[in-house]
Amino acid sequence: MDKIISVVLVGAGNRANVYASVSLEYPEKMKVVGIVDPDPVRRELMRERYNVSLENCFEDVSEFVKREKFADAVINGTMDHLHVPTSIPILEKGYDMLLEKPFAVNEKEMNELVEVARKHNNKVVIGHVLRYTDFYRAIKNIVLSGEIGKIISIETCEHVSYHHMAASYVRGKWSSEKICFAPMLLAKSCHDVDIMLWMMKETEPTHVASFGSDFQFGKERKPEGAGSRCMQNCPYVDECIFSAKSNYLAYPRWGQYVWKCLEANKNLTIEQQEESLKTDNRYGKCVWDFERDGNVDHQALVFNFANGATGTFSMVGGCAKPERNIHIVGTRGEIKGTFDDSRFVVRKMTPADSVLGYEERVYDLNVHGDMIGAAGGHGGGDEKLVYDFLDYLNGNEPSVSCATLEDSVISHRAVFKAMQSKHSGEIVKI
Ligand SMILES: NC(=O)c1ccc[n+]([C@@H]2O[C@H](COP(=O)([O-])OP(=O)(O)OC[C@H]3O[C@@H](n4cnc5c(N)ncnc54)[C@H](O)[C@@H]3O)[C@@H](O)[C@H]2O)c1
Repeated sequence: MDKIISVVLVGAGNRANVYASVSLEYPEKMKVVGIVDPDPVRRELMRERYNVSLENCFEDVSEFVKREKFADAVINGTMDHLHVPTSIPILEKGYDMLLEKPFAVNEKEMNELVEVARKHNNKVVIGHVLRYTDFYRAIKNIVLSGEIGKIISIETCEHVSYHHMAASYVRGKWSSEKICFAPMLLAKSCHDVDIMLWMMKETEPTHVASFGSDFQFGKERKPEGAGSRCMQNCPYVDECIFSAKSNYLAYPRWGQYVWKCLEANKNLTIEQQEESLKTDNRYGKCVWDFERDGNVDHQALVFNFANGATGTFSMVGGCAKPERNIHIVGTRGEIKGTFDDSRFVVRKMTPADSVLGYEERVYDLNVHGDMIGAAGGHGGGDEKLVYDFLDYLNGNEPSVSCATLEDSVISHRAVFKAMQSKHSGEIVKI
């Protein structure tokens, strides 16, 4: 019989709340017993939601770790550059941890964290939610079964929609490395590099080359005559695809980011939202007015693997439809699919098929009742990651998806090396 895992939320923001929600649905599996967050509004919102006692709420990690260990684990949902500094004292105190990705923003601090976790023998799982989705797990199992033979080539891509691009990587928290310390490739696509290297686990990447640029944003590309705030002084307010009016008011998207500054107001009106976008809300500013500080809107990576296989990954920000594609070619067959359509095909070389020379099997996870698109955040990956984490803490065998800290080092290192390659223009050894 598994025990109820007690957790403390460190960084009680959007992500920690997504993971912690499992405790409301399955109180027999998980209980939130503490909160650490310097923001009093967030602390109180989460305290009420999870019914946490006041004495177990802390403004910062140093206060929290002064107390005797009182929970099994921590869910660390702080922002990217705070992961390592907040995690180290907590791991030293003996807590296991579900830590958001990217778990470090450079190689030096990545190594420090790994060292501490090794020394204190903590179980640390990284928030690589895609691994837990039915789509990627089914593909991984087919790869493991050997059905398509040895992998020769793996091509993946991530298309980020224009409205997600603007909300997160232009107007938002990841607009500039000066603010978040994580370039778009690390913040957004460390998931995709992780998926590639997880599929290629029988070998390891040796070298990477990477190119990318900012193609669409930056002050020099601002349309002539555009204003500084969409709803205040811009003649393009009703036609611009990035208009704050259409994206955040008429068709509200990304509310968790856009209205963060008004979070304390529980009865927010449309008029107040409008006023905020016209005055001091950064999401009301023209997308072309943000400092880009070297951030890109698209980047491509080419990998070489130790066994001679190759891989490519392409991140493109600013697409009509958000989409992740994967195409794995093996010596006996291939797998090709689109995550967002919940559909992939497996093709086998079949000389006996006189017309095509191959046979094809379609996996449509929507048709087969496994509604991955409708199964919660990240195609159901968010919740499944938490169940897996709880299982792992209960002493059960880690699942095939389990993204432990040690297991995530390789993909984070590959991203750091890809950044190095993009900056230097050289092929970099991983
Ligand atoms: N796994 C995924 O698919 C996925 C998706 C989105 C975001 N993320 C990652 O999740 C993390 C959190 O993102 P978010 O959007 O939830 O952020 P958020 O801003 O909503 O939450 C972060 C919280 O940390 C708090 N905080 C700040 N300093 C702190 C400190 N010293 N100690 C404790 N708390 C502190 C903030 O007050 C805030 O409430 C980021 O690293 C992000 O990259 C992961």
